[in-house]
Amino acid sequence: MVATPVGFSLVVLRNVALFSGLDDLELEKLSKVSGRKRVERGAFVVRAGESTDSLYVLLAGRAKVTNTDEDGREIILAWLGPGEFFGEMGLIDGSPRSANVVAAEACELLFLSKDAFQRCLQDNFQVAQKLMKTLVLRLREADRKIESLALLDVYGRVARLLLDMSEVVEGRRVVKKKMSKQDMAKMIGASREMVSKVMRDLELSGYVRYEDDLLIIPGA
Ligand code: CMP
Repeated sequence: MVATPVGFSLVVLRNVALFSGLDDLELEKLSKVSGRKRVERGAFVVRAGESTDSLYVLLAGRAKVTNTDEDGREIILAWLGPGEFFGEMGLIDGSPRSANVVAAEACELLFLSKDAFQRCLQDNFQVAQKLMKTLVLRLREADRKIESLALLDVYGRVARLLLDMSEVVEGRRVVKKKMSKQDMAKMIGASREMVSKVMRDLELSGYVRYEDDLLIIPGA
């Protein structure tokens, strides 16, 4: 880990949504107590069950939040991208880490100690408010996932996942992010083989089609 040079961190902190309500003085205070760290693809930034000591902000790269069973089977709970934070749960309730956070590509991270994070929350209501909003959003997403697992078959879960990952580009609904069948399977609690079969069926029926790197969902 490297102690953060103040100038670097101030500029960076200003662009992090969680801290966007802070004035320069507050940001400067925060920059003095934050650090930065680079991790390579595949590295575990936090491990489920470990004791908690820091909050992390992802500055660059992508990470996945996962859990595994005793046979090593992995489920992907969420993906995190630049500007998003993690590690807040253990800091809020003092419990061990609830999940693993693994670098899906090389990541640049900013970290704050538990003390610094708690002081920041106490001193700045806007930060606490932003944190609560993110937690509510994550709870909504988790509720939706529980609903999918309980009420939809694998076709329905794949369809919902594709729609959730899609966006409208020039009037067409497309999935831009490349996702392996294995990752899709880990996100919806199905086997890779079943996801491959469903994708093949959806393609044959004309519900999806590939154009270069894009997946197009014509009827949506
Ligand atoms: P913590 O429990 O300290 O360590 C693991 C972190 O993963 C957790 O804090 C959250 O920041 C993050 N996390 C856990 N579950 C989810 C989820 N469903 N969506 C997004 N992030 C999560």
